[in-house]
Amino acid sequence: MILEKIQELLQRVDALQATTAEEIENLRIQYLSKKGELNALMNEFRNVPAEQKKEVGIRINELKQKAFDKINSLRDALGSSSDSDSDLDIPRTAYPIRLGTRHPLTLVKNEIIDIFSRLGFSLAEGPEIEDDWHVFSSMNFADDHPARDMQDTFFVEKDVALRTHTSSVQIRCLEKETVPVRKIFPGRVFRNEAISARAHCMFHQVEGLYVDKNVSFKDLKQVLLYFAEEMFGPDTKIRLRPSYFPFTEPSAEMDVTCSICGGKGCNICKNSGWVEILGCGMVDPNVLKNCNIDPSVYSGYAFGMGIERISMLKYNTNDIRLYFDNDVRFLSQFKNA
Ligand code: PHE
Repeated sequence: MILEKIQELLQRVDALQATTAEEIENLRIQYLSKKGELNALMNEFRNVPAEQKKEVGIRINELKQKAFDKINSLRDALGSSSDSDSDLDIPRTAYPIRLGTRHPLTLVKNEIIDIFSRLGFSLAEGPEIEDDWHVFSSMNFADDHPARDMQDTFFVEKDVALRTHTSSVQIRCLEKETVPVRKIFPGRVFRNEAISARAHCMFHQVEGLYVDKNVSFKDLKQVLLYFAEEMFGPDTKIRLRPSYFPFTEPSAEMDVTCSICGGKGCNICKNSGWVEILGCGMVDPNVLKNCNIDPSVYSGYAFGMGIERISMLKYNTNDIRLYFDNDVRFLSQFKNA
């Protein structure tokens, strides 16, 4: 029976001994090569009845792993005992493979996408290099708005810039989709800022847009409360402060209770107990008109949040530069996040 054979091989593999590189290579050929005993077993595996395939498969994989590990450990033992051999070990197999980890910004982005998809938002993306119309003009920025200044925006050439926010994708979406739309747009944005612990010249945002008949500020508030509770825990509170953006009216900024000190006050929230995570508002009628949507029939809300800010709050990190340095000592901490 194949299971007995696996058991017998397991015991033999376990007891393998070798003292020279040649002996180890012979063992590798005997067990792990194309014509080796393990591959012979795989051929037999084809004839295993379907109902036993799962169990036998698991056992064979265990055996394979054990054989790889054993031969690698024999090699390691030999390598450390003989200092005359060079470190170069050409026939050595590539096992074990070291797995990478997902970047914390990807983890947070995926979580944001997940939360909004439960509310019926689907996903879209837009270009990072944008024209003036999509970043500024269509978004109701006055001609002399300071964001149009070289000091705030990276220009590629006249009227072509690296987008300063993902709000440009609102226009891209409204130009080609028919209303109603309910979408989120994650992406990278660029601003001409001095790099410090709190600011970077490049960061990530997730934009949200909902346009339909009878959309009101109440809808916006409820969606954002749901998001905050899902992201930071059910006890999280939100607060909306009046603000200004050219493309929304009215506009607000949203704070959440600081998840690090629980609202008592700490250096992350500057002792206020609140941290700002996004800007939002009702889509300005001029923006709808610019996309040929009648503002007397349709209304909508939009919001834009910074992924780094949310990640810093969630993972208690106090320097945005960590997210761009690609230092594995930082990144590997998110293995099980
Ligand atoms: N685009 C704004 C920013 O980058 C955020 C925002 C998005 C505000 C949507 C209102 C509506 O700060």
